[in-house]
Amino acid sequence: MSFATTDLEELPPAIWRDLEAATADPASPFRTPVLGTTNLFECSMRVVVLRHADAAKRELACYSDARAQKVHQLKLCEQGHWLFYDPARRLQLRVSAHTMVHQNDAIARAHWAKTPLSQRRNYCANQPPGSDIHAPGDAIAPALKSPKVTAKELEPGYENFAVLVSTVDQIEWLQLGDTGHVRAVFNWTVVKWSGLWLVP
Ligand SMILES: Cc1cc2nc3c(=O)[nH]c(=O)nc-3n(C[C@H](O)[C@H](O)[C@H](O)COP(=O)(O)O)c2cc1C
Repeated sequence: MSFATTDLEELPPAIWRDLEAATADPASPFRTPVLGTTNLFECSMRVVVLRHADAAKRELACYSDARAQKVHQLKLCEQGHWLFYDPARRLQLRVSAHTMVHQNDAIARAHWAKTPLSQRRNYCANQPPGSDIHAPGDAIAPALKSPKVTAKELEPGYENFAVLVSTVDQIEWLQLGDTGHVRAVFNWTVVKWSGLWLVP
């Protein structure tokens, strides 16, 4: 996406093309957004990997340990916030999205099936993320880190595997420029993105 465009209607498709491309491009800065959640009193943010983006469904998704704070917060308040920044293009996206936690269902199973064994072990910690431990470590049994580990041995991790699927309702786009910055907001209005230019 370049800043050459001044047509508001061209931006949402271009934004979604970038998000969809990022899921398959480890080098894309949009591959590692910040996901914000809230417990209604305070917000909490963390970097995640963007695993799925679908313009037609307005969906973004990442994976998490189901015992993590972000999951507890999303169960309390389903509105999540995603922050993307591309420093090379000086482009920021702020995304608000209704976010559902998928655990032990068809969506979780489909994503688990395509998660490499080397990553499935990340859901096998014997204590929840954020638990205090007596020495540095990840609470994952060393045997599960063997290159010979099997899918069956890692299957207990499935219980802890959650897919966080966001349905986007607002995208705010900010493009920094040497001669001036440009900002726009897009709200999903039943059948289409409705955009407005904003003062940056
Ligand atoms: C580059 C990077 C990518 C990360 N990707 C994820 C991810 O996809 N899912 C995840 O749950 N945590 C991911 N983390 C760890 C989170 O930032 C965070 O530390 C962890 O999820 C615990 O957050 P919570 O306790 O607020 O839920 C990533 C961290 C970094 C630095």
